[in-house]
This record gives sequence, C-alpha cells and structure tokens, in this order.
Amino acid sequence: MTVRRALQGDLLDFVGEPALGDPASPAVRYRAGHWLLIDEAGRIAGVQAEPPGPGWVQERHPGRLILPGFIDTHVHSAQIDVLGAYGTALLDWLNDHTFPAEQRMADPVHAAATSALFLDALLSHGTTAAMVFPTVHKASVDALFGAAQDRGMRLLTGKVLMDRHAPDLLRDDVAQAERDCIDLISRWHGQGRLAYAVTPRFAPTSSDAQLAMAGALLASTPGAYMQTHVAENPDEVRWVQALFPSARSYLDVYHRFGLLGPTAMLAHGIWLDNDDRALLHDSGSAIAFCPSSNLFLGSGLFDWAAARASGVGVTLASDVGGGTSLSMPRTLADGYKVQALAGRRVTAWALLHGATLGAACALGLEAEIGSLEPGRLADLVVWDRAQGPVEARRQSVARDLHDAVFAWMTMADDRHVVSTRVAGVERYRRAGEPAEPTDTTDTFTTP
Ligand code: GUN
Ligand code: ZN
Repeated sequence: MTVRRALQGDLLDFVGEPALGDPASPAVRYRAGHWLLIDEAGRIAGVQAEPPGPGWVQERHPGRLILPGFIDTHVHSAQIDVLGAYGTALLDWLNDHTFPAEQRMADPVHAAATSALFLDALLSHGTTAAMVFPTVHKASVDALFGAAQDRGMRLLTGKVLMDRHAPDLLRDDVAQAERDCIDLISRWHGQGRLAYAVTPRFAPTSSDAQLAMAGALLASTPGAYMQTHVAENPDEVRWVQALFPSARSYLDVYHRFGLLGPTAMLAHGIWLDNDDRALLHDSGSAIAFCPSSNLFLGSGLFDWAAARASGVGVTLASDVGGGTSLSMPRTLADGYKVQALAGRRVTAWALLHGATLGAACALGLEAEIGSLEPGRLADLVVWDRAQGPVEARRQSVARDLHDAVFAWMTMADDRHVVSTRVAGVERYRRAGEPAEPTDTTDTFTTP
C-alpha cells in the first residue's frame, strides 16, 4: 500500500460473542454509511461518520456491506477437484474420489497451479484467511505457502501425515515425514502471515508412532497449530474404537498423543460426548463446524448448543470438497439449516461471528484479523446486499437489521462479492466494476 484509502459503506462486525439465538445481540456492531480508513501499511486506521480530509483516496459503496474477510478454518486445497462428487459416505468417498485426486498433488507443477486457483477462488468468494489441508506431498505444502505469500494472505497449513490405511502413493513413513515437517517449518513457519499446522489427517491413517511424532513436533514448535478430523461419521468412530481399543474415545486418541491444546482445530466433532466436550474445553481446543460437508456426506447434525454449554470454541468451515462450496455465506446458510434440523435456531450473528471474530479468537489471531477494529490488518470484503430483482425486493421489505442480514446470508454467494482486500491491497474485484480509484482528488462512487 502506498496510498491512504477510505472506504464508505455499511460496516458490520462483532465486539463479542453473540448468543446462539439472540437477533438483538449487543455483540453486533453495525455502522451504516461510515468511512473505514486504511493506512499506508494496510492496517485499519479508524472508522468515522464524516468523509476524511485531503490525502485519502475515497471509495464510496453506498448501501453495500463491508465485513471483515471470512476465515475458513477447515478446507482442503486439492479437493476442489472432487467438489460435488456423487454418492458415498465419508470412508467410501475418501477412497473413491478424494485419495485419487490427492495423488495428483505429487507433481509440483500441478500443485502450484491448484494452489493458485484455490487461493484466488477463496479471495473471489470473500475469504481472506484459512486453515488448509494440502496433501501428504511436500510439494503441495510448498506450493500452498508460496501462493499465500504471493497474495499476502494469513494461512495456516502443513504436510498431511498418513502412514497407514491409505494408497501407496499417499503414504509416508514416520522418519521421512518428520524430516519433511522440520524442513517445511524451518522455511515457512512464522514467515510473514504464514504459520505451520501439524496435520495428522485423522486417527485411522496414522500409526501410534506417527501420532507420537506429531505430538512431539507440536510441543517443540512454538506458535505451531494442529489440525485434524474427529468424530465425523459413525463408521469412522467405530473404526477408531477398533484401532485404538484402550482409548476412552476418538478424541482421547489425540489427547494421549499430546495433540490437543489452544492451537488445535478439530473438524466436525459430531459424535462426541460430554466428557469429550470437557476435554476440548479444558485443553482450549476448538471445533470447526462444517455444515455443508455434514449434509453432503450425510455425517450427522453437530450439537452446537452442547459445545457452547461446555465452553468449547466453535468456528464455521467449508470443508471443501466434502463441503460443496467455498462460499462462507452458503456455508453459514447450511449451518442454520443443520441447526434447524436439530431443533434449534441460530442467528446470522452467531453464524457470521463463527466465520470472523470467533474464528480469529479460536486461532489466537484476534489482534490481527476478524474485526474492523483500528490496528487490525485491513482484510475486508465489500458485498452487494442483493443480486437480481427478487433479492433486491426481499432486502427492501426487511423488517430490521437481523432480518436483512439473515436474508442476505441465506441467499448470498460469490456473485455478491464486489471487492476483496488483503492487508489493504485489493486482491479481487468483480468483473465489470469500475477500476479501483488511485487519485486523492477524485471522489469515487460505485452504484
Ligand atoms: N476425514 C479424513 N479425511 C477427511 C477428508 O478429507 N474430508 C472429510 N470430510 N473428512 C475426512
Ligand atoms: Zn476435512
């Protein structure tokens, strides 16, 4: 950023954690028609009602929403190739669709092209930060970190660990995996906005020795994250019971190997009990609720209320390609439907919080991302409220703020993304939009 920039629009973010079912939550901060100031370093310098003075490039987005960039806390880069793959539940889906697609990531050229496409797609869907599974191949991790660095994105990832119950071309061994992880950590961890995540795929595909190595690596790497899957599908849970007969539960397997803690993000957590939830809470681990994936693979209905009652941090995640869209509004809309099927209602506030400030807090990144607070990096997205006459009509008759934002969240997707900024730099602008203004003497208004 070499200029100081001011964006005007309807600013929406959170100052706390909303209750699951309170449409009038005091944790919501909505500032209609305000100016958000971005300094030369790409940080949010302030928010004000009046236009800024000379020296600021002005860009007006009347009636549009401006939100913190979404944070997708669980998504697989190589699985854009299996989006919407027909017909199977988790374990067959992995064997039939996912493992073959992941094998192609051994080729560094394919890995680089896939990673670039994947991150550009996140940006065009309004997601500016992510915790990502690449594949078992070192080349897939290098490609993803490199592509994130090129785009200035906050990205948490690491080599997927699998030394059993997987095809030959996707299996590593403990010693080689450890060497690869150490090399990747030395070159990428803590570089700019990148952080390493120790990534055992899930308990069935790692031996005891590999899980122990992962736990040791996590303990010896300050600032490293841990990501995995837990209790997604009943057949998977039974398999883990058979593989680890002395463990109290699926989650307990990870606990025994030192893999839980404040930087741990576990996807799904549908088939947990209260002891598991207490363990998640006591260890500071968080759950990534992946509603579109849970519906698509028929995995089950995540009990958000029970997680909340136990004090467990819950974030929202696409889990592409088990999930069917990179769009967080579509994911959140599915989150509402999953909770409705389970007999409870959750607000747009609870859902949006889980993909912005709540996700940032779960990852310990709330001083950097997740809100429009001065000092945060300007990772933010300008959204149309409506596409087409039916959505415009629906917005025009909205009863109140929650009604308008809930309807927007339910219907929005990547067509509604006007502009995505990462650390103040515009990384996506919708085709057909006027070019980003650069001159402080012009006042620039988009329709
Ligand atoms: N469990 C282990 N691997 C995967 C994966 O790739 N996707 C999902 N949804 N669950 C998993
Ligand atoms: Zn997953």
